[in-house]
Amino acid sequence: MARKLIVALGLVGSLSGCNWYYNTLPSPDDLMKLVPWFDHMVKSPAPSPYQRADIPRNTPKGSVPITGGEPDWGTGDPSAQFPTYAFDTLVAKALVNPTADRAATLARGDTLYTNFCATCHGGAGDGKGPVGPKVAALSLLTDRAKAFGDGYLYSLIRYGRGVMPQYGDKIHQPADRWAVVNYVRQLQGMAMPAAPAPAAAPEGASR
Ligand code: HEC
Repeated sequence: MARKLIVALGLVGSLSGCNWYYNTLPSPDDLMKLVPWFDHMVKSPAPSPYQRADIPRNTPKGSVPITGGEPDWGTGDPSAQFPTYAFDTLVAKALVNPTADRAATLARGDTLYTNFCATCHGGAGDGKGPVGPKVAALSLLTDRAKAFGDGYLYSLIRYGRGVMPQYGDKIHQPADRWAVVNYVRQLQGMAMPAAPAPAAAPEGASR
């Protein structure tokens, strides 16, 4: 009986001993709480000292970046995304697809589309990607989608629309976004302007 008690006590001791030791050590979390303005910092929102809801720090409308690059035709607060962030459709419609040789951009467009769009819109563009039906992603093969201008598709990729997130922050380069536009056009089976004929193909060059 006494032996059993000793074994039981030993067991309890060995199991709780470590905890007892470590529980007496101060935890860094407790130290943080000693300074009143530390204990809530994990949960506090990131400060944006110069930004307020009524004064968003977006590029002013119509301004042109002097370092080159694209102007911003987004409207609303980019951090809000849904449902207020949008783009100026008039600017979008006026955009001209600058791609000279569309066929040459298709491989790049295929890669980017597969990476960023196919999850929702499906590899074929029918809106049946793995998460497509869950977010009500639209088919890109409808007459409606075909009727959008290239500039509208470009803006949609850059800024998103409704439930569709913005992809401008993932597909940075304008040329890459146009490559996706060209690829979507190909999925839609729309005739692409013929590539400009090479001025003088070198003798014997295959491609
Ligand atoms: C997270 C899922 C998702 C991803 C990823 C996504 N989309 Fe969308 N897309 C949507 C949803 C949802 C809509 C419908 C938006 C709406 O109702 O305004 C949409 C709408 C569209 C439309 C307009 C269709 C129409 O008939 O109005 C086009 C074009 C489009 N997406 C292209 C793309 C391209 C190109 C990409 C890749 C850069 C992409 N989408 C990535 C969810 C997605």
